[in-house]
Amino acid sequence: FAVQMLTSVGLGPALGMAAVPTAVIQKYEGSFLSFIKGVLGGDLQTLAGGPLFLLLAKYYQEYGPIFTLAFGPKAFLVVSDPVMARHVLRDVPVTQYCKGMLAEILEPIMGQGLIPANPAVWKVRRRALVPGFHKKWLNRMIGMFGDRADILLKDLQSKEGNVVDMEERFCSVTLDIIGKAVFNYDFGSVTKESPIIKAVYRVLREAEHRSSSFIPYWNLPYADQWMGGQVEFRRDMTMLDDILADLINRAVETRSEATVEELEERDNADDPSLLRFLVDMRGEDLSSKALRDDLMTMLIAGHETTAAMLTWTLFELARGPPALLEEIQKEVRTVLKDKDRPDYDDIVAMKKLRFCLIESLRLYPEPPVLIRRAREADNLPSGGSDLTSGIKVLRGTDMFISTWNLHRSPDLWDEPERFDPTRWDRPFQNPSVRGWDGYNPDKVTGLYPNEQAADFAFLPFGGGARKCVGDQFAMMEAAVTLSVLLKKMDFELAIPAEDVGMKTGATIHTMNGLQMKPRSVSESSTSVEKTTSWWEMQHLKRGFNAN
Ligand code: HEM
Repeated sequence: FAVQMLTSVGLGPALGMAAVPTAVIQKYEGSFLSFIKGVLGGDLQTLAGGPLFLLLAKYYQEYGPIFTLAFGPKAFLVVSDPVMARHVLRDVPVTQYCKGMLAEILEPIMGQGLIPANPAVWKVRRRALVPGFHKKWLNRMIGMFGDRADILLKDLQSKEGNVVDMEERFCSVTLDIIGKAVFNYDFGSVTKESPIIKAVYRVLREAEHRSSSFIPYWNLPYADQWMGGQVEFRRDMTMLDDILADLINRAVETRSEATVEELEERDNADDPSLLRFLVDMRGEDLSSKALRDDLMTMLIAGHETTAAMLTWTLFELARGPPALLEEIQKEVRTVLKDKDRPDYDDIVAMKKLRFCLIESLRLYPEPPVLIRRAREADNLPSGGSDLTSGIKVLRGTDMFISTWNLHRSPDLWDEPERFDPTRWDRPFQNPSVRGWDGYNPDKVTGLYPNEQAADFAFLPFGGGARKCVGDQFAMMEAAVTLSVLLKKMDFELAIPAEDVGMKTGATIHTMNGLQMKPRSVSESSTSVEKTTSWWEMQHLKRGFNAN
C-alpha cells in the first residue's frame, strides 16, 4: 500500500501546478515501517530513504535535467540544468519567482529577512544591507577572523593527541565570528558552552527539520504549547529575540546618524558590527521589525554554511593524496612567512587554498537545492542535452534547482566525483549541452571561480539578484581560519573516511562528526621540494599546460 501511494506519475500536472512534458514514476524504496515513521514525522528525508538531494541525484541520472517529483499532495519541478537555472536566477525579473515554501518555513524564525523576503520587501532591504559589506569593513573583519582562528588553534594545541570533532569546532568558530560581525556579540563558543549557544543550535536544527517536512506540524493548533520540540522552540526563540532586542536597543540608544559614505569612513573600533552600521545609517526605519529579521537571517545564513565549507575541505584534504595537503601547507607557509595569519593580499596569493575551499563547495553545496515558486507563468528555455522544446511553468509551481546535481553532473564537469581543486585552472566545455558556455578560467574575477565563469553550472553562492551577500566574507573567513590551522598543524582522520557519512538539512552535515587527530608540526617539516608538484602533475596528466 505504501508503495502504491507513492507510485504515481508526478502529480504536478494533475494538480495544475506545473504543466511539464516530463513525468516521473515515483517509487518508495525504504521499508514499510520507515515509510509509516516518515508519514507520521512528516519527514521527506525518511520517505526518501536518505538525504533528499541524493534521491534527486538518482532521478537526475534516470530522467535527465528536468522532472516532476511528487510526494503525496506536494509536487516539485526539479531543475538540474545550467541554462534553465540561469534563466530563473538571473534572466527573468526578480519579481517572477519567490522563495515559496522556504519562506513559509523560515518565516517564524527569520520573518521577512533577506533570504525568505518577498520581492517587494527584498528590494528595499537588499539596498539597505549591501553597503554594510563595504571593502573597509571586510578588511577589518579579516583581523577579527585571525583573532578567532587563533583561539581555535590554541584550543586544538591544548587537545593534542586527542580525537576532536572538527565539524563541531568549525561550527563554534564560525558562530563566534558571525556573532561579532553581525552584532558585536561574543558567543565565546570555542571555549565554553552556554544556554544561548544551545538555543541557537536547537533553532537551527528545528529550521532544518521543517525544511525537510511535508506536513507543517508547527502550524497545528497551539503546537507551541503542547508539542514536544515546539514548546522548546518557542522558548528558544523568545530567548534569542530578547537578546537581539536588547542589542538593538543598546545600539539605538547610542545612534549617531550618517550617510553611507560617512559610515564607510568611520572607525568604529569598539563596535564594527553590521548592527552598528545599519542603526547609524540615515533613513533606516528602526521602528520596524526589518532590522531584527535581517540580523537573525544573517546569524543563521552565515554560520553553518561556512562551517560546512571548512569541514568538507579539511575532510577532502585529509583523505586525499598526502602530496596535495603538503602542497597547500607549503603554499600557506611560503605566503605567510613568519606571520601567523593572512591579510587580504595573502588570501589572494593563496590560490591553491582558495581553490580547495571552492572545490569543496562544488562537491558539498550549501544548500544542496535552491527553492523557488513561480509567481507568474514562465517558459523555461530548453537546455540539457536531449530536450527539444521549452518547458511551460504554471503560476504557483514549486521548483527545486538542484545545485548538487549541477555540481556533480558528468555533462558539465570532467571527473565530477573527484575532489580536484586544479580543475579551476582548466577550461571545460560540452557542446552537447545546448546554450551552455562551459567553464572559462579567464572569466574568474575576485576570490573564487563563480557562477559567471561556469555559466551557471556552478552556484556556490547562488546567482543573479538574490545571490549571497556574504560570499566574500565567507571565502575570506574560511581562508583565514584554514590557513592559520594548516600553518601549524597536521590533521589525520581518526575514523575511516567512509564512516564520516553525510546527512542533509539546510547544509550538508557529516553523519558522525569529522573525528580527527590534530597534531602540531614544525613548519619546515613538509617543505619537500619536488621537481613537478602534485598540482602540475594533474595538469600534465590532462595535457594542459599551466603556463
Ligand atoms: C543567500 C550560500 C555565507 C548571508 C545565499 C544563497 C546561497 C548562499 C546559495 C542563495 C540562496 C537562494 O538563491 O535561494 C552561502 C554559502 C556560504 C554563505 C555556501 C558560506 C560558505 C553567508 C554569510 C552571510 C550570508 C557569511 C552573511 C554574513 C546571505 C543572505 C542571503 C544569502 C542574507 C540572501 C540574499 C538575498 O536574497 O538577497 N547564500 N552563503 N551568507 N546569504 Fe549566503
